[in-house]
Amino acid sequence: MTKTKRIGILTSGGDCGGLNAVIRAVVRRARDYDMEIYGIKGATQGLMNRPVEAELLDMKKVSGILRYGGTILGTVNKGNPFAYPMPDGSIVDRAEEVIDGYHKLGLDALIGIGGDGSLAILRRLAQQGNMNLVAVPKTIDNDLGATENSIGFNTAVTVAVEALDRLTYTAISHSRVMILEVMGRDAGHIAVSAGIAGGAHVVLIPEIPYDLDEVCDRLMNRALRGFNFSTMVVAEAVKTPTGEPVRYTNSLGQTLYGGIGQYLGDQISSRTGMESRVTILGHVQRGSTPSPLDRILGAAFGVAAVDLISQNKYDRMVAWVNREVIDVPIAEAIAQYSAVDIHGTLVRTAIGLGTYVGEIDQLIS
Ligand code: F6P
Repeated sequence: MTKTKRIGILTSGGDCGGLNAVIRAVVRRARDYDMEIYGIKGATQGLMNRPVEAELLDMKKVSGILRYGGTILGTVNKGNPFAYPMPDGSIVDRAEEVIDGYHKLGLDALIGIGGDGSLAILRRLAQQGNMNLVAVPKTIDNDLGATENSIGFNTAVTVAVEALDRLTYTAISHSRVMILEVMGRDAGHIAVSAGIAGGAHVVLIPEIPYDLDEVCDRLMNRALRGFNFSTMVVAEAVKTPTGEPVRYTNSLGQTLYGGIGQYLGDQISSRTGMESRVTILGHVQRGSTPSPLDRILGAAFGVAAVDLISQNKYDRMVAWVNREVIDVPIAEAIAQYSAVDIHGTLVRTAIGLGTYVGEIDQLIS
């Protein structure tokens, strides 16, 4: 008789739409291989805590969760076990405690759902601690290499497009320039996709430099041609025209993205006399009901991850390429950062629509 495999699953990094769809798919597929699935709470923190924080996930526990936002397991996007911030301010390497937690649970394998930062940490833990790791890509930023789509990106774009549609009504009603600042860290994927789908007139992303005079000219020209409004999408990591990052520091001393939209709004209003308003979309891009595409992707990734474990294929990440789930080395996915392809279809489409996406000629010539 073959031994029942014990599989751990955790979600790590920022939450996003579609995580619960992966968890549900893993539990459902595991029945075909007589595997037990243990949901680990709060990412690696659950393996570090004693007693280890994990629960057996059965069909009842995952029933209906595919339509919930967030993650039923909880997550963290800080607390790297290799450089763990202790309450007294010291930084301690607690990796062995996480590894010990994996072995204490008697796990045969671990499914880690995360973005590039989380997957790099999980892979290092797996190599140091003889853990069998299979990875599932998730990040609203869609900047992980080796996969065309990560869980959460489509939901974030859906939310951003809905926001842009709403802002367009106000732009038309009040004859304003409405600016939407979206997430994405150093990648402009959300901004480009939402800008095209939401009909923005200007889309600024970190990958392409821009000229503020040109932005203003485009907006003024629209007004001269009889259009009483314009909409703009700007990615959070876009810098000022002179290359200064725009960040703010909160009361805990954390430096966060946020503010480039307001900077641009002020500049545009003072240079053109046009009234502008700014919306920073923020975490609503992450916490929404998952889009159908993220549910489908989550289901496909969850099933494929369990299939990999059934074949004892580890150190692999499931990936979406050409409408298929494939698997690639985790190291390859982490190494290949995926920024917006400035020569790609989406940028060309935006330009073809007459959208200003920055001084692309500077990059091409
Ligand atoms: O990486 C996902 C992401 O949502 C980024 O787009 C954003 O800059 C960041 O996380 C926000 O992180 P936090 O939840 O710590 O504010």
